[in-house]
Amino acid sequence: MKPYYENDTLTLYHADCRDLLLDLPSHSVDLLLTDPPYGMAWASKSKGAAPIRADGARQGMRVFRQALTAASSVLAEDSHAFVFCHWASWPDFHDAMAPHMGMKGALIWWKNRGGTGDCEGSFAPDYEVVLHGAGPKRRPLLGKRHGAVLPSFPPVAPKRRTHPTEKPIELMVFLVARGCPEDGLVLDPFAGSGATLLAAQQLGRRAVGVELEERYCEAAAQRLEAAARVCSADAA
Ligand SMILES: C[S@@+](CC[C@H](N)C(=O)[O-])C[C@H]1O[C@@H](n2cnc3c(N)ncnc32)[C@H](O)[C@@H]1O
Repeated sequence: MKPYYENDTLTLYHADCRDLLLDLPSHSVDLLLTDPPYGMAWASKSKGAAPIRADGARQGMRVFRQALTAASSVLAEDSHAFVFCHWASWPDFHDAMAPHMGMKGALIWWKNRGGTGDCEGSFAPDYEVVLHGAGPKRRPLLGKRHGAVLPSFPPVAPKRRTHPTEKPIELMVFLVARGCPEDGLVLDPFAGSGATLLAAQQLGRRAVGVELEERYCEAAAQRLEAAARVCSADAA
């Protein structure tokens, strides 16, 4: 399939990841880093937000399970996987991942900032869960050992977002730097506006992303182009 965007190290496909992943070389991926639809019907709870594809609870889990089945043959035996999920759906995400990899734990992305919901009757949802899995021959994580509660990475401000659930690049850089060797390949089958690809680009890792919605492919391509221009201007 023709990529929607590519440069020396990154490739982005406008496709359904369940089809596209089957075409990648087997055991080629060193890090699966992804933020699938949470299955929380997110947009219907957030006034004015664009709906996210496959975000209904049952549909989201079905798509994630099918994507993992398609991805399992492309993951290297010593790979790592970081998968974002919501506190209410993490048991389902865990059960979907466990047949494909060893489960290593859950990381907490602390946002150091409140959130919406029942403001008087619940604690502020100021964190997200990231499940960590690894292949049967898992390689050591890179860098000094870190606690499972990650440093505070502030969420992207609503005004600056190009995607309703956009993740901060700094957070993705932290995860890519620990989970993918310098010559490794990162895969994000639910790429959205390209946060994983931007992090890989920043660290000089190769990466493949897949996104179903053309408008998010376009947002990702524009962000990657802009970041590459900044890099080449800095190098000049
Ligand atoms: C939670 S968002 C990812 C946001 C991303 N982390 C970012 O920072 O922009 C999940 C994305 O998966 C996409 N998606 C849903 N089903 C898909 C599928 N079958 N194949 C590829 N992408 C899909 C949605 O369009 C959505 O953009």
